[in-house]
Amino acid sequence: MTLMKKKRALITGITGQDGSYLAEFLINKGYEVYGFMRRTSTDPFARIEHLHVSGALKLIYGNMRDLPTIERAIEESDPHEIYNLAAQSHVGVSFLCPDETWDINYMGVERLLTVAYKHNKKIRIYQASTSEMFGSTPPPQSEKTVFAPVSPYAEAKLKAHHLIEEYRAQGYFAASGILFNHESPRRGKHFVTRKLTHAFAKMKYGMQDHVTVGNLDAERDWGFAGDYVRAMWMMLQEKKADTYVIATGEAHSVRQLIETVGSVIGMPIHWEGKGLKEVGKDEHGTIRVSIDKKFYRPREVDALQGDASKAKRKLGWKPEVSFEELVEMMVQADLRLIGGTQEYVQQ
Ligand code: GDD
Repeated sequence: MTLMKKKRALITGITGQDGSYLAEFLINKGYEVYGFMRRTSTDPFARIEHLHVSGALKLIYGNMRDLPTIERAIEESDPHEIYNLAAQSHVGVSFLCPDETWDINYMGVERLLTVAYKHNKKIRIYQASTSEMFGSTPPPQSEKTVFAPVSPYAEAKLKAHHLIEEYRAQGYFAASGILFNHESPRRGKHFVTRKLTHAFAKMKYGMQDHVTVGNLDAERDWGFAGDYVRAMWMMLQEKKADTYVIATGEAHSVRQLIETVGSVIGMPIHWEGKGLKEVGKDEHGTIRVSIDKKFYRPREVDALQGDASKAKRKLGWKPEVSFEELVEMMVQADLRLIGGTQEYVQQ
């Protein structure tokens, strides 16, 4: 009898939303999974606690800004596949911390690629690129669309994407996933979807009066993170590394998102006023949504809507969760969370 050796994967950014879904996905596929984690990570450990406690996920402490820790992680895990999900992932924060964003989102990738390919030229690497790279180029956006980044976050991600393509041109297996926004009940509360589902759940329970947001007119193509991590894995199973857009193809404004969250939770919202004075009221006339300039970005990406036909054609990938199902899933999870009937990581 021949014993099949388990495939080993190293995931950076393991404590993030995508890290937790991808780790579960790979463990289910029979992988030996290692997670690269900052000792000082501000992400909730609860996302991966169940995997760590059961022994299915091995954690290695380190930091994308700290070369020796990357070297140790690669030595220790000796991976067949690396998924680079580590990033300063908040676009708004990148305007406040541009150097840190550059150091993690670009320099970190450079460190990782250098160390990984020195260790083993055959490692397959997935780089988490982003639709933010399209910036001011109008939708729909595909792999052929011109990049026009408007934030330090997107600048750093674009530079990393180019580096991946350089390595690929030299024959290395370096894939880049241009993922559009992807959300879930595990999403951080500083991103607009979760901020809203969490706030509306609290309003429903009378624990909060209203929520304050920024630009209501920005449009995003919101999909389910669980669908998107499947695409990451698919990209690394191909014969050749490539770049793929991953998106639902459907865009909604922040305003429509609020309306959907409100109607799912049974608190329909209507709008009154204009500009910074615009408010969203419930059916009793109580203000539930107001605008604060501080949530606006110095430069905004107005509209993102992806064309994922290449991923459909070549990988056979398609999203399984619709926008409405995603909002419903997130609202129900937050209602259970706030109501105290469910633990954090269940969905
Ligand atoms: N976060 C936040 N908070 N965003 C708000 C708010 C608010 O109160 N009000 C309006 N917005 C708008 C933002 O200006 C933006 O246009 C949109 O809502 C979405 O913001 P985020 O949820 O913060 O996500 P993002 O689109 O900036 O970035 C996310 O998606 C990218 C892929 O397109 C992040 O996950 C990035 O890491 C990822 O690369």
